[in-house]
Amino acid sequence: MNCICSPAFQCPPIGKTTTHPHHKLPHATVTAGLQMTTTHHHEITHSMPSKNIEVIKSLEPWVAKSILPSLKPADKSWQPSDFLPNSSQPFDQFATEVQTLRDQSAMLPDAYLVVLVGSMITEEALPTYESFLNRHDGILDETGASANPWAKWTRGWTAEENRHGDLLRTYLYLSGRVDMLMIERTIQNLIASGMDAETENNPYMGFVYTSFQERATFVTHGNTARLAKERGDPLLARICGIIASDEKRHEKAYIKIVEKLLEVDTTTTMLAIAEMLQKRIKMPSHLMNDGHDTSLFSHYWAAVEGLGVFTVGDYANVLEFLVQRWRLENLEGLTSEGQRAQEYVCGLAPKIRKLQERNQEWAQKMEQHGVNFSWIFNKKVIL
Ligand SMILES: [Fe+2]
Ligand SMILES: [Fe+2]
Repeated sequence: MNCICSPAFQCPPIGKTTTHPHHKLPHATVTAGLQMTTTHHHEITHSMPSKNIEVIKSLEPWVAKSILPSLKPADKSWQPSDFLPNSSQPFDQFATEVQTLRDQSAMLPDAYLVVLVGSMITEEALPTYESFLNRHDGILDETGASANPWAKWTRGWTAEENRHGDLLRTYLYLSGRVDMLMIERTIQNLIASGMDAETENNPYMGFVYTSFQERATFVTHGNTARLAKERGDPLLARICGIIASDEKRHEKAYIKIVEKLLEVDTTTTMLAIAEMLQKRIKMPSHLMNDGHDTSLFSHYWAAVEGLGVFTVGDYANVLEFLVQRWRLENLEGLTSEGQRAQEYVCGLAPKIRKLQERNQEWAQKMEQHGVNFSWIFNKKVIL
């Protein structure tokens, strides 16, 4: 999913109408992996039939009972200030804590900083993700403070996620190693650009997307935690680790929602899973732009892959994990279209791994090159 694999990517089969979400699935060639560029696709909106909206609404009591308890109240949650130098102590003590943070962050290589900044920017575009969830039919927060359990989940999830960007941002600011102005411009641009995950306002697809994404961010933050520890920055390791544990809890909730949908509406959910994978899961920050590097996202992504923070192999792992977790191979009672979707999804991971092998062969043949990142004062990172 870095720039090397783009030749293997192709647009998903299109030819859909705006009224029904379910389309033919490919039998033959499959190129799969993370979507990394903006492809031109027809904008499909509100594709979910009203009978499915009723299914979503019928789950409200279940969401209240089985999903909302996984949110943590503010007084039981960690907060960014738990991990950062305490600015309310006498200045000398505060300065000593900041100095320790800076001494440890001095060990981090530039490529690592680029990856961490990218994670932070992705977290900071949270307004985009809250409005993403609120675009899905049947789960809308109609008033902005609605008592509907779906709406409560979206707000509670957002409130928890909000701590991630705050914590990473403050850490990076105090480290003194990054160009905050360029980072802040990138965040402003990203929120203004938004994202189109192609979920068609359809919560079946939306929750497949969020299951995938939360698992992917769990893996990403877990790997940045491990690398920080290896590089001698235990504070940053704790920071990335605590964020990863939130992502894990959120992942579990979204996986449970899709599991429930599979139980009550098996074929529709199976088709939604196949549809999202066929389109490929887009990274939420794919529209990032710092106003300088026109290939910023692919350069950033090459750094992510280069450090092994998230690779095509990880994409296949996430997929395999979800296939097993949702027991997709054992689903029964599917229509023939549903069975085709099942076959497609269950056979996808090995194909992605093959694609990864091909990418690696390409990568070995390609010469390494340096890219300057504005986020780290235009220093060059070898990709
Ligand atoms: Fe997050
Ligand atoms: Fe998340």
